[in-house]
Amino acid sequence: MKIYSAAFVKSAAQTVHYPEMPFPEIAFAGRSNVGKSSLINTLLNRKRLVKTSSTPGRTQLINFFLVNDAFSLVDLPGYGYAKVPASVKKKWGPMIETYLRNRTQLMGVVLIVDMRRDPGPDETRFIDWLHLYGISVIPVVTKADKLSRQKRHQRMSKIAPFFQHTDCLPIPFSAKSRIGREAVWEHIERLLPPAPEESS
Ligand code: GTP
Ligand code: MG
Repeated sequence: MKIYSAAFVKSAAQTVHYPEMPFPEIAFAGRSNVGKSSLINTLLNRKRLVKTSSTPGRTQLINFFLVNDAFSLVDLPGYGYAKVPASVKKKWGPMIETYLRNRTQLMGVVLIVDMRRDPGPDETRFIDWLHLYGISVIPVVTKADKLSRQKRHQRMSKIAPFFQHTDCLPIPFSAKSRIGREAVWEHIERLLPPAPEESS
């Protein structure tokens, strides 16, 4: 994927505030602090377009980014053990669920897990839920740079069975070394409608 342009469009919590864009969308979901925002920055070759933080719970709204004036990448707040007030956390589940169920131009979800931990009940529930609603899932296993090559293989074999019902095999990735970037783009491109032929 060649990136010609990438821009932040809008943050939204409620449906009425979603940007009115006709473009297809790919959303990024996963436990808080797993590296969703860093993955989007790596895909777009940008260091700080999407705000990242070592404090879990950095992304608190649904953030829309327009790429190549053709499609959008959507950064979702993390689920799980975010160190955020319970009142905020309680709103996230419905916020994410409402987006995933109602956004008609949603083409699929990139689900991110940390290579160092086994996916848990949160992930299993989420995959089952996406399956139920017929939403395509691209599993990405990030922070690969934190493990040795041998350990990486071990962890990928252990993690793969959790994703047996998703649309493709989990992709090892690192925002630091950028491994897996091309593979993630390939799978995203498969979910996007073909670009219109360039007129000559
Ligand atoms: P929330 O918005 O809080 O849900 O987090 P997030 O999933 O968007 O994670 P974010 O991208 O902000 O990254 C969280 C922390 O992990 C930051 O300190 C990142 O620098 C770090 N991080 C993310 N991806 C990688 C990676 O591939 N390798 C390493 N070593 N660190 C990473
Ligand atoms: Mg984030």
